[in-house]
Amino acid sequence: MNHWLIQLKSIIMSNKVSFNQDYPVINRSNDLYERATGLIPAYSQTLAKGPTQYVNGVAPKYLVKGKGSHVWDVDGNEYIDYNMGIGPLSLGYCYPAVDEAIKTQLEDGITFSLMHPLEVELAELLREIIPNAESVRYSKSGADVTSAAIRIARAYTGKTKVLCCGYHGWHDWYVSTIARNAGVPEATKELTYTFGYNDINSFLNSIDEDVAAVILEPVVFEAPKNDFLYKVSEICKLNNIVLIFDEMWTGFRMALGGAQEYFGIIPDLATYSKAVANGMPIAILTGREKIMKVLEDDVFFFTTFGGEALSLAAAKATINEIIDKDVISYIDTLGGKLKDGYNNIAKEIGIDFTKAVGYNFRSMVTFDAKAGDPLILKSFVQQELIKRGILWSGMHNICYSHTNTDVEYTLTAYYQVMLLLKEAVENGTVDQQIKGIPVQPTFRKTSEFNTKPVHAR
Ligand SMILES: Cc1ncc(COP(=O)(O)O)c(C=O)c1O
Repeated sequence: MNHWLIQLKSIIMSNKVSFNQDYPVINRSNDLYERATGLIPAYSQTLAKGPTQYVNGVAPKYLVKGKGSHVWDVDGNEYIDYNMGIGPLSLGYCYPAVDEAIKTQLEDGITFSLMHPLEVELAELLREIIPNAESVRYSKSGADVTSAAIRIARAYTGKTKVLCCGYHGWHDWYVSTIARNAGVPEATKELTYTFGYNDINSFLNSIDEDVAAVILEPVVFEAPKNDFLYKVSEICKLNNIVLIFDEMWTGFRMALGGAQEYFGIIPDLATYSKAVANGMPIAILTGREKIMKVLEDDVFFFTTFGGEALSLAAAKATINEIIDKDVISYIDTLGGKLKDGYNNIAKEIGIDFTKAVGYNFRSMVTFDAKAGDPLILKSFVQQELIKRGILWSGMHNICYSHTNTDVEYTLTAYYQVMLLLKEAVENGTVDQQIKGIPVQPTFRKTSEFNTKPVHAR
């Protein structure tokens, strides 16, 4: 404990975020929220940014500015951000090299009436760094490219069913597997099934002769075990199934070329978005030429803003910066310091019901139900971190602008908050201490969901 207390003063002096005396004033956030009530259903365009993911009444709801790793809410409160726009900010807010590329392109135009050279230049760059990028297409959102990949797989194989493992976006074919699937036709629900990560038997049991595609996040937080990814890829080859890696999170973070580079398992198709353009909206589909070829004539995948030039320029600048500054190593080292630091604090103060799990580039804090409802425990930690100037929803999405000072400050805050949590758990008062509406569950599931074993059909 002394170690942390000694560091505390110098950290506070060097970090603009300070250990506040109280929870932030969020009047303007709440005013906007009221104005949105009834006008914007569900309030947010992105589930993870919406009010259900933050303690309603304590957390800010609207952000207006970001610089580096810090953000400011509409009431003027400053926070260290560990969400980074839910993934896109790989370099940091208002990162000069990327903003410069956007401004330079802006002088010449945003969207054109013919194709733009950047479409070719970026594709050539991607071919150099992503192992399976023999062919490349662009679109605007992650769901666009995962859905394109599924359509391509169906066209290429002449089969219909899809097996998935992870989250893949809002379109019918995927949403049919989750509980919130109203509006998806029953016929569509019969076409997509899930399998358990690291559960090769659930994978094998889900396969029949009509499976066209297997799409999975190559890792979320749990590492692959017993050659799981290799086995999946071999089984796909044997069964004429198109293997798709959804690299939204792993791409340009885990390794430059994503999980396919990191694990040396090359999928037929891969989908990227989030980190590739430091906040600009672009999604990328890469794949083997002989499969992507179906896009030439048979498969329809076109959209007005697919070749929008500001995002292409931002992607090129972001990738070059990731290469030049060895951002992958930086994120790995700093992310490791935060993840290991969290686990060391838990050990030091003697609590075994919380830990940080996952890879260094993206870890997550978990809570064991033996200490109480994990969402209540998470809400408690979130509200206390917000009080200390840290915007947190359980993830450590490290970017290149996060500093050692940020991480040391955060570990000091964690130390304080975990001591408070320990006391509250021991006294059974965690829920009484939540000062607003607690965080609600999300729906992400990667195991034991709707796998339909072949023998049950
Ligand atoms: C792994 C994964 N795939 C697909 C998507 C969908 O991307 P988008 O929200 O850009 O449509 C997401 C979004 O969070 C994701 O995490």
